[in-house]
Amino acid sequence: MFLRMNMTSLQTSARLVACLGLFSASGLLNAADIYKGRDLFNQHCMSCHEPGRPIPGAQDFSLGQGMMQSDITLRSKIERGKNIMPGYRGVLTNQMIMDIIAYMRTLR
Ligand code: HEC
Repeated sequence: MFLRMNMTSLQTSARLVACLGLFSASGLLNAADIYKGRDLFNQHCMSCHEPGRPIPGAQDFSLGQGMMQSDITLRSKIERGKNIMPGYRGVLTNQMIMDIIAYMRTLR
């Protein structure tokens, strides 16, 4: 009886592990990477949003300007662009934009 129960819980854990594997393979568990985000920010956003001295009209994220929004809202605005800011849909992937946002949240 004891052995039987143990086998069952083993099988259950094996299924759980397999299931988690599927999730991470599909990218659902990918955490944002602030180091990649920093490189991408420097490459694509820095020219206008340089922390401490953005161009006129652009937010200074190191002062928290424009940051009181959810990641999802920020992402869709970055994808869309606005006035002189280009949209990044088709230029940066979802994951790249989430990495950038995670980095922007570390700016002080
Ligand atoms: C060519 C200059 C330029 C570049 C490059 C640029 N931005 Fe902007 N961005 C602006 C300006 C100007 C605004 C303000 C737009 C407005 O409200 O008229 C803005 C607005 C924003 C906002 C606030 C949107 C809102 O209305 O709440 C976010 C967030 C943002 N930019 C993120 C980024 C990110 C991330 C990148 C790089 C992937 C980037 N920007 C690249 C100029 C730029």
